[in-house]
Amino acid sequence: MTTLIVGATGATGRLVVDQLLHAGEKVRIIARNIDKLPPQLQKRDNLSIIQGTIIDMSEKERIKHVSGCDAIISCLGHNMSWKGIYGSPRKLVTTSIQKLIAAVEKRQSKETLKLVLMNSTGVRNRDLKEPIPFAQHAVLGLLRLAVPPHLDNEKAADYLRTYQNKTYSSIEWVSVRPDTLLNHDKVSPYTLHPSPTRSAIFNSGQTNRINVAHLMTELITKQDLWDKWKGKMPVIYNTSLNIK
Ligand SMILES: NC(=O)c1ccc[n+]([C@@H]2O[C@H](COP(=O)([O-])OP(=O)(O)OC[C@H]3O[C@@H](n4cnc5c(N)ncnc54)[C@H](OP(=O)(O)O)[C@@H]3O)[C@@H](O)[C@H]2O)c1
Repeated sequence: MTTLIVGATGATGRLVVDQLLHAGEKVRIIARNIDKLPPQLQKRDNLSIIQGTIIDMSEKERIKHVSGCDAIISCLGHNMSWKGIYGSPRKLVTTSIQKLIAAVEKRQSKETLKLVLMNSTGVRNRDLKEPIPFAQHAVLGLLRLAVPPHLDNEKAADYLRTYQNKTYSSIEWVSVRPDTLLNHDKVSPYTLHPSPTRSAIFNSGQTNRINVAHLMTELITKQDLWDKWKGKMPVIYNTSLNIK
């Protein structure tokens, strides 16, 4: 299987690239700055690298790059700089997902394609009417106004959640929702939940990036896990912090 990854140069994206290659999968990445990918990763077999960004390339190029792919993973996120947070593109994740889906719909193959979005526990799954305390509701409202990346994550998740196939192509999706991200070298036990079990604002949990990468790899390679979570927004927490 071939998976296209955007956001592959990021702290989580590069771990997904590594784990998918390790699992024997073929990986294609689109990155604006290839040098941000560790050199040892750049040289790996079964990895093809395309320089550019989904938003800036032409539709023809996007269709070419999604063709032949069985899955797409987005680990895109705004850089935590003034320019990354308030500059263009403000809807980096949403626009990239929209353009990727449009390209998939226009490719020749009508095979089912898996799409995995890296999202956040701060984003609600409105299908489930997830209840949140009033205070958190107020803080999220402020974040929506003051921090464009939060709104972008919400819009991207909502776009996928309400997406209807417009053509004969079949796109299935999963939005993975980690809590506060941490860096660790080894995959550790983690748990998955349909909805957050703690407040993302007032009592946040922790999720190792490498565990997010592990989950994404398993979603792509294990059909039973995919079938369990497709069309859903699993929340992922490191296990140790869930022991009360
Ligand atoms: N931080 C947290 O605790 C937390 C918690 C839950 C969820 N999340 C979400 O998780 C996602 C990924 O997090 P992360 O820490 O792994 O991200 P990251 O290390 O910041 O990586 C972001 C990726 O997006 C790319 N990117 C940024 N701006 C771009 C642009 N304008 N055009 C094209 N590509 C662009 C970066 O490319 P370059 O390498 O070229 O910059 C990089 O590959 C984000 O959506 C974030 O909101 C974060």
